[in-house]
Amino acid sequence: MYMERVLTANAPSGEYVRVGGFVENLRNKRYMAFIVLRDMSGKLQLTVDKGAYPDVAAEVDKLTVESVVTAYGKVVDNPAVKMGGREMVVEKLVVESVAEAMPMMADSSIDARLDYRWIDLRTEKNKLMIKAQTEFVRSMRNYLLERDFVEIHTPKIIGAASESGADVFELTYFDRKAYLAQSPQFYKQMAMAAGLERIFEVGPVFRAEKSFTSRHATEFTCFDLEFSYIDSFEDVMHMEELLLQDALKNVAEKYGGEIERLFGLKTVVPTVPFPRIKLHDLYDELEKRYGYTVPEEEKIDLSTDAEKLSYKFAMEEYGHEFLFVTDFPKDKRAFYHMRKDGVPQGYDLIWRGTEITTGAQREHRYEQLRRQADEKGLGEDVKFYMEFFRYGCPPHGGFGLGVDRMTMLLLDIGIKEAEFIFRSPIRLNP
Ligand code: 4AD
Ligand code: MG
Repeated sequence: MYMERVLTANAPSGEYVRVGGFVENLRNKRYMAFIVLRDMSGKLQLTVDKGAYPDVAAEVDKLTVESVVTAYGKVVDNPAVKMGGREMVVEKLVVESVAEAMPMMADSSIDARLDYRWIDLRTEKNKLMIKAQTEFVRSMRNYLLERDFVEIHTPKIIGAASESGADVFELTYFDRKAYLAQSPQFYKQMAMAAGLERIFEVGPVFRAEKSFTSRHATEFTCFDLEFSYIDSFEDVMHMEELLLQDALKNVAEKYGGEIERLFGLKTVVPTVPFPRIKLHDLYDELEKRYGYTVPEEEKIDLSTDAEKLSYKFAMEEYGHEFLFVTDFPKDKRAFYHMRKDGVPQGYDLIWRGTEITTGAQREHRYEQLRRQADEKGLGEDVKFYMEFFRYGCPPHGGFGLGVDRMTMLLLDIGIKEAEFIFRSPIRLNP
């Protein structure tokens, strides 16, 4: 008779059920065998009475640690069992796949573990990482859908190097060149010119950057949104703080306890509004408070050290983990950021000392945008993009939030561990 598989966490005591999972631990004694079975929901002890079930005993003899089995039996309470005081008395066991000796250990170096990422992901911590990230993204998506946003899917193979040009991957596209999108930026704005008003996208972006840090990848996932009829970039920041507050509330409710148990970290639901500070004022504060000095000409962007120190500052001054930094100089900002009195109307959002977002109100007026593109010496590359602004386009703005950065900061891990599969200049496998 066919029986549907249940997760171990949902296997009720007193019932005959079917479970399936990996053999985390195996003790094969003379009369009894004990298997710790692990699935996506948790663990369950499988107990085998070898005398009563010789067929099952024969299957157990074939097992190795990390093999995959399906088991049928009755779940019973047993206070002597450490794992939840329950066990399954196995009546039938099917060996689905026998595992060879493990090629790496949980405490191997991160690079050794990444070579066998599918095994590395079997740990409780990594499963929680994926679950927490799922909740975060689900929550943001939901928040936007409830507010009339639509989800779009922009092309990743593009005909012209977008934005900066410097960090794009080039590829051969039949008999000509194409590029991998390093942001959906231009297409998000095209959607505004199309009158879609409120859009978002969660998708891959590619950056040909030779960076070897704990927060840079050559491919990552970006949560991008763009919306129309805004009055200023303040509307964009407000949208983002509400979105993040809601997402962190949901993550904390669902996984806060587990995150604290496995990663030793509290998931703090941020208060709104998040603190805001101008870039130059931030440098002044860092110098005044921590003696952090940088030459004036370097105060045009946030250095890695300044980002890190800004966390200390945000906590001390506002008791807040987030900090919006505004008023970057135009040389350091994309040409499409709207300017007011020469100041780009955009921001970076720093969480726990690392940038997670860049956002802005965009320049939607063709003539002005043309001047800003010319000023940066952008010609052919932005030609197709400039067309979007010639036939009517509402005022708009938006931001891009690095999903892997967000996950990494939520759990205080490196980006190598926060991505399902990490890509760097020297890593293309698995
Ligand atoms: O700051 P970025 O480059 O901004 C843009 O792409 C703009 N088009 C967004 C906008 O709407 N104005 O990238 C957005 C975010 C960063 O804040 C960071 O979280 C993440 O993407 N990010 C990276 N994550 C991992 N590895 C990298 N190399 C990253 N570069 C940026
Ligand atoms: Mg940025």
